[in-house]
Amino acid sequence: MDMLVVRGGHPLRGTVTVGGAKNAALPIMAAALVAEGTTVLHGVPELVDVTTLSHVLRSLGASAERRADGALEIRVVDQQPCLADYELVRRMRASVCVLGPLLGRRHRACVSLPGGCNIGHRPIDLHLKGLRALGAEITIERGYVFARADRLVGADVYLGGSFGSTVTGTCNVLSAAVLAEGTTTISAAACEPEVVDLGNMLIAMGARIEGLGTPLLRIDGVEALNAVEHTVIPDRIEAATLMVAAAMTRGELTIENVRPAHLAAVTDVLRVAGTRVEFHGSTAHVRMTGAPRPVDVTALPYPGVPTDVQAQLTALLALADGISVVTDKVFPDRFMHIPELMRLGASIRREGASAIINGTPRMSGACVMASDLRASAALLLAALASDGESVIRRVYHLDRGYERLERKLNSVGADIRRVPDDPDNMPQSLQLSVDEQSVPTMDSSDTPPPPKFLRHAENKEATVRR
Ligand code: UD1
Repeated sequence: MDMLVVRGGHPLRGTVTVGGAKNAALPIMAAALVAEGTTVLHGVPELVDVTTLSHVLRSLGASAERRADGALEIRVVDQQPCLADYELVRRMRASVCVLGPLLGRRHRACVSLPGGCNIGHRPIDLHLKGLRALGAEITIERGYVFARADRLVGADVYLGGSFGSTVTGTCNVLSAAVLAEGTTTISAAACEPEVVDLGNMLIAMGARIEGLGTPLLRIDGVEALNAVEHTVIPDRIEAATLMVAAAMTRGELTIENVRPAHLAAVTDVLRVAGTRVEFHGSTAHVRMTGAPRPVDVTALPYPGVPTDVQAQLTALLALADGISVVTDKVFPDRFMHIPELMRLGASIRREGASAIINGTPRMSGACVMASDLRASAALLLAALASDGESVIRRVYHLDRGYERLERKLNSVGADIRRVPDDPDNMPQSLQLSVDEQSVPTMDSSDTPPPPKFLRHAENKEATVRR
């Protein structure tokens, strides 16, 4: 296992390019199962999650190989297999995206339930409700979803849940409905750009879909779909992460390959926080000078602030000049990063689905533990903006969803080293000497200056009282 050793305090300056969207690539790869012929996908990022889904597709009778030019070719060679095994699905819950395509094309599917997740309860009841409405018989046995439908028939499906619509659930129902007999309407469909990207590829394949990007989709089923060549949209979450990185380090980044419309909510938050953000075509220029201003932010379904950027914005606002409130209405328990940010000196209190952040002027390097994909990005950004050295452990979470993030950040001035997670690699600066471990007595008149690791706690107190 690797860890990242980060030396903070360097403003990021330069140009970086955003890769293809993970959350678009995964359902699109799964949808290749419904096509006749070879699907060629450009812009699929090189990520652990993509490798995992490639394994799932191979286990389902498809070949999934990278060409020399980086494009991913997927071709179904055997229509018989229908099992997505627990050993693969437990590694990545988006494997559940094969359920709709399998049902649509092969009329049966056996897909493991994904199991627990660090960002909160993530049921798939809405996926199953939608597929049942199309006529699938579904049972859950031994941890697997068994689905079968000799014939899928179009129906009216409502996909709204307590926390809004479902992104991968909409992808699953859409990918099944394109081959169903007759017309399906999906109301309360997810409007995320990743769903639109999937829909656009299905349309190019011959599907008949109206209303993409709106909560009401109309799908007229067709007999068969032909494989196409498709380019995945740029990753708006990676772009937003880089924008926050520029703001947090008080740097200046030019970020290429972005879709400004996909970044409207995050851009608004960053501007209110005092960041200068300008777009020229598909390029963003982001610059920040002073401390961020406090902002109240709520993560909502698209076009709101994405829950996948909530942790990064929480890290930014930990350095704001005042109190911010960050609420997550999509995943109300997605706050595992808070205790780790507090190890860096942030002052944050969680109340239900909200984080109350009392901004502090500086954070100081520490050893922290990543709990999930976006939490690890937030910790990396916080470490870049902290004084001294930090260590981020369990960094495999980061590799699931960001393509060479530390290399991109290093190319614009960050100082990040990837080393094996070993005590010998722990920086000296994070190992307290015997002298530093002794706490001075408070009533002594000749008390020596407090040790380094206490000074920041004092600063925090000062901030709280302000
Ligand atoms: C996708 C994204 C993930 C992002 C999330 C929300 C992919 C591969 N992943 O995940 O990065 O954080 O959208 O934008 O695209 N829910 C139910 N029942 C269901 C399904 C979902 O109650 O059947 C709830 C979830 O618990 C959550 C909310 O609905 O509170 C949104 O979840 P959903 O949109 O389904 O997330 P994913 O598609 O799993």
